[in-house]
Amino acid sequence: MTVTTVVGCQWGDEAKGKFVDLLAEHASIVARYNGGDNAGHTVVNPHGVFKLRLTPNGLFNPGVRCLIGPGVVLNLDTLLSEISLFQKAGIDLHDRLWISPRCHIVMPYHPLLEEVYEKAKGKAKTGTTRRGMGPVFADKVSYNGIRMFDLLEPSQFAEKLKIQLAVKNPILQVFGVPPLDFEQIYQEKLAQFASLRQWVREPFGLVQETLAGGGNILLEGAQGALLDNNWGTYPFCTASITLSGGAAAGLGIAPRHIDRVIGVTKAYTTRVGGGPMPTELTGETGEIIQRAGQEYGTVTGRARRCGWFDAELARFTCQINGVTELALTKIDVLDSLPTVKICTGYHHPSSGDQLRHYWEGDAHWLEDCQPLYIELPGWKQPTTQARRFAELPPQAQAYVHQIEELVGVAVRWVSVGPGRDETIVI
Ligand code: GDP
Ligand code: IMO
Ligand code: MG
Repeated sequence: MTVTTVVGCQWGDEAKGKFVDLLAEHASIVARYNGGDNAGHTVVNPHGVFKLRLTPNGLFNPGVRCLIGPGVVLNLDTLLSEISLFQKAGIDLHDRLWISPRCHIVMPYHPLLEEVYEKAKGKAKTGTTRRGMGPVFADKVSYNGIRMFDLLEPSQFAEKLKIQLAVKNPILQVFGVPPLDFEQIYQEKLAQFASLRQWVREPFGLVQETLAGGGNILLEGAQGALLDNNWGTYPFCTASITLSGGAAAGLGIAPRHIDRVIGVTKAYTTRVGGGPMPTELTGETGEIIQRAGQEYGTVTGRARRCGWFDAELARFTCQINGVTELALTKIDVLDSLPTVKICTGYHHPSSGDQLRHYWEGDAHWLEDCQPLYIELPGWKQPTTQARRFAELPPQAQAYVHQIEELVGVAVRWVSVGPGRDETIVI
């Protein structure tokens, strides 16, 4: 029996989806435990190309049960359209999908409120995915949320929805947003819930049975450590816990059961939205990486900002997650570059020659940090065909070893393309 968590070690989109899909083959359970449909996890497998936002990446494997834990917030439109996508692909979901009734629901006012805040912040906006994450999690922690449990009891749901609209509609109106209609939301959510009802049941018992029976459990993290609400570049972060520590509470499994933490990181750095990014490349090299890596957001289509691999950040995110092994992805994207750089630490104007760490300051402080780089020769040849580490060009092998040394964790997988087979196991 092994419990494995897959986490993002940068600002999201590290290719967690690919690795969950790969590892799901050996799992009895795959579970999502944080975030919502702000996530977009791409899977390329014999069924096709899927960009999943809420449903765990295990449904492609017939023996796997997929769970959505209480730490996830649900947009019911997204969930229903994903379920229908699986059904159209001929994938049987009967008895395979479990949705915790403790999950909070993204209501129509959440993205609207988010937009009001983002507009008010102007240039200082977070640059969210506009899925209402901030407001839905704010309602959750301030006891104003509406959960799947509430939809089981229509009168309870009606009571709660009325209270929320009584507070939220006047706020929206002040900012020129037309008020939302109770009856419309009430009917729509109940109808959506009726279509989901068969899968809404608490997965806690199933997790306990699986632990006792020796089955393998795979926990699928969304976002990345640098977007974590406590440890990310706040306020340029997300609303949930994106660390391995969040997996325990977000699904309902004791931390001592987690055996492996797989940290997924790109061979360079990307970020979507606002906030500091010390190794960002705004010139031609950044564009080359963006084009080669097709760095456009899965959820919003926005261009992702690209930069050199930041070992200072990756070391921190591996430490805070307790990463036991690394999956280094998209190394093929660097194939054409004559030289490659890695950031080993930061200089800050306030501290002369002294090297500083990410965790010492806030987002504003990080904005002023200057990365210190080492430069390595590029390999200038394709890596996509490599299936063994020894088949990678020597310069690419040296690059991987340099990352291992600076980050302090062994690389167990090198990904050379989006497909399942485009993977080197070390
Ligand atoms: P996630 O959110 O962490 O699951 O990552 P995304 O799916 O949002 O973004 C990763 C993107 O990179 C997807 O389009 C993948 O198909 C693609 N991808 C994954 N691994 C590789 C790789 O090794 N090389 C290349 N070129 N693309 C990859
Ligand atoms: P996956 O799981 C990349 C970013 C947004 C924005 C910030 C806050 O696919 O890796 P939010 O909508 O969460 O309030 O936006 O977080 N963000 C992501 N960036 N990948 C993600 O998920 C992300 N989820 C949120 O771009 O900067
Ligand atoms: Mg993504």
